[in-house]
Amino acid sequence: MSAGAPTGADPQDERRRWDWLSQEVRRHQAAYHRDDAPLVPDAEYDRLVAELEELAGRHPDWASADSPAEQVGAPGRAALAPVRFTRPVLSLNNARSRQELEEFMARVGVVGPWVVELKIDGLSVILRYQRGRLRLAATRGDGATGEDVTANVAAIAGVPHQLSEPLDLEVRGEVYLPRTRLRALNAERESRGEPPLANPRNAAAGSLRQLDPAITAARGLAAFLYEIRDGAALASIPTQGAALERLAGLGFAVEPHWQRCADLEAVWEFVQEWRERRRELDYDTDGLVVKLDDLGEAARLGATQKAPRAAVAFKYPPDEDVATVRGIRLTVGRTGAVTPTAELSPVRLAGTTVTRASLHNANILERLDVRVGDRVVVRKAGEVIPEIVSVLTAERQGTEVPYTYPATCPECGTPLVREPGEVDIRCPAALTCPAQRREGLIHYGSRGALDIAGLGDKTVDLLLSTGLVATPVDLYALTADRLAALPRFGPLAAENLVRAVAASRSQPLSRLLVAFGIRHVGERVAAALARHFRTLDGLMAASADEVASVPGVGPVIAESVAAFFSAPAGQALVSGLRQAGVNFVEPEPAAEPVPGPMAGQSVVVTGALAGASRREAEAAVLAAGGRVQSAVTRQTTLVVAGEGAGSKLDRARALEIEVIDEQEFWSRVANGRMP
Ligand code: IVH
Repeated sequence: MSAGAPTGADPQDERRRWDWLSQEVRRHQAAYHRDDAPLVPDAEYDRLVAELEELAGRHPDWASADSPAEQVGAPGRAALAPVRFTRPVLSLNNARSRQELEEFMARVGVVGPWVVELKIDGLSVILRYQRGRLRLAATRGDGATGEDVTANVAAIAGVPHQLSEPLDLEVRGEVYLPRTRLRALNAERESRGEPPLANPRNAAAGSLRQLDPAITAARGLAAFLYEIRDGAALASIPTQGAALERLAGLGFAVEPHWQRCADLEAVWEFVQEWRERRRELDYDTDGLVVKLDDLGEAARLGATQKAPRAAVAFKYPPDEDVATVRGIRLTVGRTGAVTPTAELSPVRLAGTTVTRASLHNANILERLDVRVGDRVVVRKAGEVIPEIVSVLTAERQGTEVPYTYPATCPECGTPLVREPGEVDIRCPAALTCPAQRREGLIHYGSRGALDIAGLGDKTVDLLLSTGLVATPVDLYALTADRLAALPRFGPLAAENLVRAVAASRSQPLSRLLVAFGIRHVGERVAAALARHFRTLDGLMAASADEVASVPGVGPVIAESVAAFFSAPAGQALVSGLRQAGVNFVEPEPAAEPVPGPMAGQSVVVTGALAGASRREAEAAVLAAGGRVQSAVTRQTTLVVAGEGAGSKLDRARALEIEVIDEQEFWSRVANGRMP
């Protein structure tokens, strides 16, 4: 909360709290609707409104007509011409759980059927057509008066200028900025030194309300339409499903994933299906809209001041909220990168409790100027680690403490370095730094490397602290007797670890190269190097040019490889492992066990494909002998990225997994034949 916010603990305070909340909500409404620049995440705003509404419920005499508790949106900016609506442009009530959905359905009083649509997180627009021609487009404004954005909307794909029939019609929909467009736009802005736009919704709002339509056109906005509000055509349309089909038939873009659901059970299934799937789309969706399919019944049920009774917005738990920074901790990674992590007051995000957020690297910490005590916006999307998006600097009390990077490694005291052109600050002590030694050992035995079962972080800590092991070479000298003498180490665990370490001797060279943890050498590069050179000695004897010429490798990787093998620590490691009898050879590739062009591949299909549904594409993978995965993991070998691929594609890149487009995919599964 802001400085000096009254708490509402006693009755007098409650009135002050009411005044304060009204003012805050008005301020946030103006920032969001008028300036397209929200000051806080939706979750924080929703909390303020909910509290205001709760107070309004208990003190009906407090609310006046201009109270924000009674209002939808905010009046428009002055520069665009006002448009008065003949019927109010309503908003929706929210449901956040299965129980709230059930309560909504009970209020409506029917079992179903329902039409469930994706809730596009964009900007509501009303379009008026006369005899099939687009005459007017308006934003929602405060629901009674909007802004004339006709010239700008006319520049949007998905909004026909001329319908396929000469109808008088009023329709409603959502204008949005595709995520891929936002990314491109922000890349341009950053190259010009301008701050990036925070999110697609605000970018869309800003683009739509430009006074110069040429700017709107250049931004690449899009729109989905979902409601026929008025017109003779409406009378003959019995259901919402039919309305969507009619809209599409008239030439409007309609979000294609809507579904008719018979009852609560079916609606809930749809809710579950889209919880994660929505992240793969090229547009932001913050939930679903559940609408009574029968439009006659919906009209009879009517609306309250704010929202129709026959529809509700189901909101997924927010990905974004506000937390307080309690501390900033540095961790030293395997490669020496020093990563700051913010410790946070607990906050629920996307269904989990978050207490930490990565600040990724020094640049982000510096750019955001995150201070201990700050209130910050935290975001968690899908499987991604939570991150700090921004600092609520307006809420600073003056007691927050700016962060200064230490000059030395928090683990070993070595002076930290920042190489030119690099974002990370690193500890250059390599294996003499205990943190890097620890992370290096954990990595050596990890799944993608030598896969030593039982060598997890707890065991590594124990081995290091008892002095039994300092480098991977020492693992090969461990005996079951010595291990069994350690605390928490039974004879069976000891035997198993010794056996697992012994088995790691015969892993192929490609895995050993991964295990070395050479910078820029992940599984893909290691496989390429091992395939090309066949032996570790061959690789070590090769010139930098020869290494750089291997497909998928390049001068930067080649230099990193050379640096690793010429450093004393790298040389000691190689000679120690040689003495320990570790295999340095890559076996000849085995004959393909299963026929089919995708045999041995673990494939993830993500994004929208033009030629088939995702299910069909996955069926094609199976038919070609491959395996299908829903999430990108270290086991994934191939990612098929369609239009609008998002976090899975990012992850695939981070894990250096091969990514192909749709066309390449079909040519591979069909051996050159398109389906
Ligand atoms: S129906 C009177 N359907 O969500 C009912 N709204 O939180 C009109 N929205 O103001 C709304 N996608 O701007 C409807 N498929 C959809 C939607 C949708 C996005 C927006 C709309 C509305 C807000 C309510």
